[in-house]
Amino acid sequence: MADTVRLALVGCGAIAGYHAKAIRSIDRIEIAAAIDPKREAADALAGEHGVAAFATMEEAAAAVDFDAVDIMVPHDLHESQTERALALGKHVLLEKPIAQDLTTAERVLAAGAAADQAFMIGENSQYWPDVVAVDRLVRDGAVGEIIAAQAAFENRFDPFWYPGTRPWRFDLQRTGGGVVIDGGAHWIRPLRMWLGEIASVVGVTGRPIAAMDGESLAQALLRFESGLVASFLALTSPANLSDAPWFRVMGTKGEVLIRGGFEAGGVELYDEDHPDGRSLPGEHGYFHSFKPELEDFAALVLDGKPPVAPPEKALGEMRTALALYRSARAGEWESVWHG
Ligand SMILES: NC(=O)c1ccc[n+]([C@@H]2O[C@H](COP(=O)([O-])OP(=O)(O)OC[C@H]3O[C@@H](n4cnc5c(N)ncnc54)[C@H](O)[C@@H]3O)[C@@H](O)[C@H]2O)c1
Repeated sequence: MADTVRLALVGCGAIAGYHAKAIRSIDRIEIAAAIDPKREAADALAGEHGVAAFATMEEAAAAVDFDAVDIMVPHDLHESQTERALALGKHVLLEKPIAQDLTTAERVLAAGAAADQAFMIGENSQYWPDVVAVDRLVRDGAVGEIIAAQAAFENRFDPFWYPGTRPWRFDLQRTGGGVVIDGGAHWIRPLRMWLGEIASVVGVTGRPIAAMDGESLAQALLRFESGLVASFLALTSPANLSDAPWFRVMGTKGEVLIRGGFEAGGVELYDEDHPDGRSLPGEHGYFHSFKPELEDFAALVLDGKPPVAPPEKALGEMRTALALYRSARAGEWESVWHG
């Protein structure tokens, strides 16, 4: 059996640079090609990593030997790109969300399950060091019984994530939603890791970024199957924001929080022994989640080891987003799993 995954990057936009950087620090994955119909995007990433650039997967497959693809394209292309990769016999790592709507997502999951190749949905917050550290603290009982939690996905509008004159992220048909189904998903998964499954949602949405069809603001309460309730904020703001914590988990013995930070976050524990808080040592920061995610994909391809979370786990973030959208329209609690 091969000891390295030869991986083609499909979609060479904003997130591809972060994936590629992580791959360079992983022994078991080698970048084999950069694929994007936008020639300059493919050329730039290919040049940086010393591989050839292609406009399509089929062209790449005819010219270069690779085993797997890392699909990082707009949401409405997730299904077609997954189908094409599986038809070429390639293993697939597909960025979240599974697709732009539930029916398509279920087809994508079925195609992945039916294939002989490895198939994984990339939900990197499952591997985010700060989130993993909180998971460990919660499981070890550091905050006692959880009472409440808060998650706030908030940042200033950054054109880097919205390239071009009419970015695909402005188009509801292409995204399936706004900030909740997109970046907000990475804040919903940690809550599910710590508090269990979400049963129902009540929320409101707004559009402070008026050019974007989907919501750039959501405020919601998430009720878990356990009965616990967490508050959830998702905001892409036109203005600068403070550095309020991204997550708080409050329990009978204390509180643990995650400080905001894409490059360097931080976990703090407040309890009886540390009334002013104690910072946890170790690696922190959202962007440090891609390396362990891609290592998990390599282990799936090379060793057949199941990933930390199966692909269908990502239905939870999608269904929570869709339930929040229904709730914003109806003004009522909406079930996540029925409806
Ligand atoms: N995990 C994270 O933190 C994170 C962050 C951002 C984006 N994402 C996800 O990554 C995906 C891409 O988002 P992005 O921000 O990089 O978008 P982007 O617009 O910056 O990049 C997408 C790229 O896909 C290319 N593309 C379009 N059609 C293609 C095709 N048929 N074949 C190959 N390439 C094609 C585009 O030309 C573009 O360069 C989305 O699913 C998004 O939700 C994840």
